[in-house]
Amino acid sequence: LSDVLTGEEHYDPYEAFDVAAGAGTVRDPYPIFAELRRKGGVHRGGLYDVCGVEWPYGNVFSGSSTGEYTVMSYDAVHQVLRGGDTISSAGYGQSMGLVMGHSILEMDDPEHKDYRGLIEQAFSRKAVQRWEEQIIGPTVEHFIDRFAARGRADLVKELTFPFPVHVITGMLGLPTEELPQFHAWAVELINIAADPGRGLAASASLKDYLWERIDERRSKPKEDLISALAGCELDGHRLTNDEIVAFLRLILPAGGETTYRSSGNLLFGLLTNPEQLEAVRNDRSLLPQAIEEGLRWEAPLTSIGRWATRDVDICGVQVEAGASISVCMGSANHDEARWEHPEEFDVFRPQKPHIAFAFGPHVCIGQHLARVETQVALNMIFDRLPNLRPEPEAWRDGGVHITGFAFRSPTALPVLFG
Ligand code: HEM
Repeated sequence: LSDVLTGEEHYDPYEAFDVAAGAGTVRDPYPIFAELRRKGGVHRGGLYDVCGVEWPYGNVFSGSSTGEYTVMSYDAVHQVLRGGDTISSAGYGQSMGLVMGHSILEMDDPEHKDYRGLIEQAFSRKAVQRWEEQIIGPTVEHFIDRFAARGRADLVKELTFPFPVHVITGMLGLPTEELPQFHAWAVELINIAADPGRGLAASASLKDYLWERIDERRSKPKEDLISALAGCELDGHRLTNDEIVAFLRLILPAGGETTYRSSGNLLFGLLTNPEQLEAVRNDRSLLPQAIEEGLRWEAPLTSIGRWATRDVDICGVQVEAGASISVCMGSANHDEARWEHPEEFDVFRPQKPHIAFAFGPHVCIGQHLARVETQVALNMIFDRLPNLRPEPEAWRDGGVHITGFAFRSPTALPVLFG
């Protein structure tokens, strides 16, 4: 990895990402969500409209449909995500499908069920355990090694941003010298809404690149995710190259961007609540519940989309066939009907399942992997960076904070330690 990271200095993916992420950010959407929940669980209008937030990217990829609704309460979000034959994910084909290809995200049953059955074979517990030992641990260690002796670091730029994409490339078994190019395409793909031209070009380049790797694995399988996907079989059906490419292009944003943000959010929660940080550091059995609380308190992805296939009643509101539905998981995770003092970060609160990984047929396929990644990163931070604390200058007057609307996380976490 070290050689590769030296090569990366020619292109700073963090900077490219940071510039694009600056658009359309909101410091704290939770009071707006709470106000809307008070008025009702289901609202007519798209998420940006009902929240009074400007859609940052013009008309590109904003999607369109006959009517628009936003669901905000836990019950309404749960009902929509449970799916069934009145709710579809196919509308993603008009937005993300343009760059991802026909991925699992936009499939409905029975296609989704069959395809997911195949993919799940490659994401088994055994596979995650092997990735933990062979890839996640060494990757996190590598990044922490670079600053552990320095006594200060920006934990976003130097750890939480780069490590999940490196984990994915490790899982794919890509040669380390190709990592910088792959990471650059990954970031350009993730930034598609900000720069569609670059995003579409990256999507095409990734397809060619991955297609070759899949052919190689078909003739000579290795112990990696591409080989596992190429080898999956269910009722005589195997994944085609196009299906594997679509899946691999999806897990770059699905697995890279979300995990980077969730680990940053958890660290922010702990750094701003030092007594909780100390408690978790001293008793690691609290770490799993701290991870869940971080995901509940600041879901990295606040909303996803669904579409009504027929007229449907959602918590007492009639939604017409063809309407698009913004499903606001960030709001559902703060529903006061389910959690007391939902705005507070409290690793000791009674545990109840949150909905940051969605729910129902499309519930996140990488949730176990994401938890393991965060656990490894936090454990190593606690072990290697004693007396971890915010850097006072940078944090003064809220200088460091969580930001964003559809995606949320801190853009920097300057810390001191030792
Ligand atoms: C904290 C980290 C993560 C969060 C919060 C998260 C969240 C989500 C959510 C909300 C969905 C549902 C999307 C929808 O139906 O519209 C989803 C689906 C998915 N996630 Fe994750 N995810 C995370 C990490 C990962 C990782 C690490 C991977 C894999 C490397 C991954 C792969 C996927 C895939 C493939 C789907 C599509 C599943 C389907 O459509 O059946 N995710 N994730």
